[in-house]
Amino acid sequence: MTPDSALYAGSARYYRRGRAGYSPELPSMLAGHLGLDGSGRFVDEGCGPGILTVPLAPLFAEVFGLDPDPAMLVEARRYADEAGASNARFLQARAEDTASVLAGPFRLIGFAQSFHWTDRERVAAMAFDLLEPGGALILVHHTLPAHGQPPIPEVAAGSALPPPPGPDPPIPFGDIRALRERYLGSVLRAGSGTRNIPGDLHRDLLARTSFGPPERFLLPGRRDLIRDVDDVVANVFAQSFSAPHLFGPRLERFTAELRELLTAASPTGRFWEWPGDTELLVARKPAESRP
Ligand SMILES: C[S@@+](CC[C@H](N)C(=O)[O-])C[C@H]1O[C@@H](n2cnc3c(N)ncnc32)[C@H](O)[C@@H]1O
Repeated sequence: MTPDSALYAGSARYYRRGRAGYSPELPSMLAGHLGLDGSGRFVDEGCGPGILTVPLAPLFAEVFGLDPDPAMLVEARRYADEAGASNARFLQARAEDTASVLAGPFRLIGFAQSFHWTDRERVAAMAFDLLEPGGALILVHHTLPAHGQPPIPEVAAGSALPPPPGPDPPIPFGDIRALRERYLGSVLRAGSGTRNIPGDLHRDLLARTSFGPPERFLLPGRRDLIRDVDDVVANVFAQSFSAPHLFGPRLERFTAELRELLTAASPTGRFWEWPGDTELLVARKPAESRP
């Protein structure tokens, strides 16, 4: 197993259930802003279980989801089949290796919460080369980082927690974090090492590439996500820093303690999740190639 595919070992089957989707307005906003009309090709880099690939599939003739983790690709295929996205193909590859598994050009290349895992300058340069003139690179994030993790570049200025829509309490991320730290320590883990967050903002990095400064949009995230205990357990196991493989033989004990904590935290067994709004960065390749 490569280091990339070890990051989320054991997470894939929890991922789609556990992690919130992006703003429901994202597909129509992108279609309007970029003139997407069902033609052209899209590559979703670090697609995971297809969280971005599948909702954007109707906007293109062909879509490709790439991820180094084969278990994520199985889930992505399942999601695409459920959604009738017959124009979607999923391939095992790191973003860095895109040009060796797919020939361009592409109208859109996307990274949804995956750019930080890559050699960013290298993949941005590669994306520029693979895009058709007028094509775009997009980066998509929730504005609130999950579980009190250190914010990745771009999400630092997260939205404030709005009032809950009903009686259910927010997910007790602070308590979950304390429990996780008892098992895994306070330094965030990632794969077989520790998590290494890029020190600069993605938009500053993009500004230094051939793309130049990206446009930035905030789209309204979902405020109506009500989760049960199994959903929150899935959310915990869908994070690289609390992926199942990290707990080794103590996984069962951790799961039992997590369930106990959650049951005590909500008399109804339900929680409100607010992932923040959806931040979208759009970096365009000029329509006319520069000489
Ligand atoms: C936080 S998940 C995001 C999944 C999905 N894009 C989403 O929006 O939920 C990050 C994904 O990036 C993948 N990944 C890790 N290193 C990568 C790399 N070098 N190239 C491409 N994907 C990578 C992981 O396997 C994982 O599926």
